[in-house]
Formats: sequence, C-alpha cells, structure tokens
Amino acid sequence: MRKETTMKFKTIFVLLCISILNACSQKSPHTYNSTLNLKQVMEWVIDPSADVVWDSVKYITTSSGTEEISPKTDADWESIRNSAATLIQAGNILMLDHLAKDNQQWHEFAKRLSTNAEVALKAAQNKDKDALFDAGGNIYNACKACHDKYANFDKPQN
Ligand code: HEC
Repeated sequence: MRKETTMKFKTIFVLLCISILNACSQKSPHTYNSTLNLKQVMEWVIDPSADVVWDSVKYITTSSGTEEISPKTDADWESIRNSAATLIQAGNILMLDHLAKDNQQWHEFAKRLSTNAEVALKAAQNKDKDALFDAGGNIYNACKACHDKYANFDKPQN
C-alpha cells in the first residue's frame, strides 16, 4: 500500500518534470497587437503624454512680470509621473517591427525618448521642477531628432 503510493508520486513527479521541460523548450509566439499604426501611436499615446510633461512647468512672461506654472498637489506630480512612464514604454513600443522604420537609427531615437522620459519620471518622483523642465526639453529634442530624419509632415500620411 505504502509502496504503491510512493510509485504514484514518482509517476506524478516525472510527468510534472516533462511538462515543465516542454513548456520551457517551446518558444513564445511573440504576436503583438498591431491595431494602432504609427500615426495613432504618435497622436493618441505619445503626444498627449508629452503634453502633460511639457505643460507641467512653464514660465509665462508678460509686461507685469514672469509667472511660473508648476505642479502643486501630489495628484499633479503623480499624473506627470504616469505620463513620463507612458513615454518610457512608448519608446519600447516604437521598436516593434510593424512601427520601426529600420533597425538602426530609429531604435536609437526611440531609446533616446525612453531615456529622457526616465529622467522626467525621476524628477516627478523627487518633485524637482527644475529637473522636470530640463527633461521636458530633452524629450522634445528626442521627438525632433526622429521627426527630422523620418517624418515628412508635408506629405499626406496614411
Ligand atoms: C523613433 C522616431 C520617433 C520619435 C522618437 C517620435 N516620433 Fe513622432 N513621428 C515619427 C514619424 C515617422 C512620424 C510620421 C508618421 C506618420 O504620420 O505616418 C511621426 C509623427 C508624429 C505626429 C503627427 C502624427 C500625424 O501624422 O498626424 C505627432 C503629433 C508626433 N509624431 C508627436 C511626437 C512626440 C510629441 C514625440 C516625442 C515625445 C514623438 N513624436 C517622438 C517618429 C517619431
């Protein structure tokens, strides 16, 4: 009786090992949802998130002096952090095969977006408005570098 039980467990153990081995040797299919084209990723994912970062710290100069706009509440800082996080991930999304225009410089520009957005994210976590302002400028340069090379805004886009 005891022996039988041990055998049973052994069999289960062996079967378990085989199924784990099978699972590991199978390559994951890597099928991505490609519903959004590049234009939609730009307009619906990247642009609104960048706007949150850019609008967060501003200096408005009028004849009566310079007014500073900066995040006030915890909720303000959190929303900036979330948008910066979206931009970090957007850099990764841009490297997906169906969006990337090539395997070299495109990837560098996409990484540059993520890296600068990471600085913005840290600035938001530290509630450091100066660092956030600078990171916003560097994010803008990352957008512009890629647009200068790959986007032709004069032509009708699909
Ligand atoms: C890795 C390259 C790359 C990066 C980085 C990038 N873009 Fe773009 N973007 C493009 C290309 C290419 C187009 C034109 C694509 C099209 O319209 O089909 C474009 C188009 C756009 C458009 C216009 C969409 C349209 O055609 O109407 C907006 C808005 C935009 N980008 C915003 C941004 C912002 C904001 C950033 C930075 C926060 C950014 N992009 C970063 C490559 C990039």
